[in-house]
Amino acid sequence: MPIKEWEPRIIAFLCHWCSYAAADLAGVSRYSYPANVSIIRVPCSSRVNPQMILRAFAGGADGVLVAGCHLGDCHYVKGNFYARRRFWVLRKLLEFVGVEPVRFQVHWIAGSEGNKFAGTIAEMVEEVRSLGPSSFAREVETLA
Ligand code: FES
Repeated sequence: MPIKEWEPRIIAFLCHWCSYAAADLAGVSRYSYPANVSIIRVPCSSRVNPQMILRAFAGGADGVLVAGCHLGDCHYVKGNFYARRRFWVLRKLLEFVGVEPVRFQVHWIAGSEGNKFAGTIAEMVEEVRSLGPSSFAREVETLA
């Protein structure tokens, strides 16, 4: 019986107004991208708090993506500016606890950019694959 190869598991928080629409467009346009991603729709990228990202890693995610509207296009005007600042700090914290920067990515993807969405997922999956499985969940488990 062949041993199942490890596949990266990516959790993607997508803003309803832009990036989720881009994912939808990618599907409708039949742009293919790896099936390694589990999508969680959020009202705005600013709805994603650091705890949600840490919880995703602690739950076994190998990578976490947050995608929202382009800066200046947020449905809630300044939401993605708040998110950008918050994630800048979170990235430093993740690096401090040993999570490689490539495992946590933030992208701005408009609803009309289905192709960009598919490309972003494909690229991230390959980048995370090259790192191997994340050890964060195991390390959190040993602390408990
Ligand atoms: Fe899309 Fe705020 S509504 S980032």
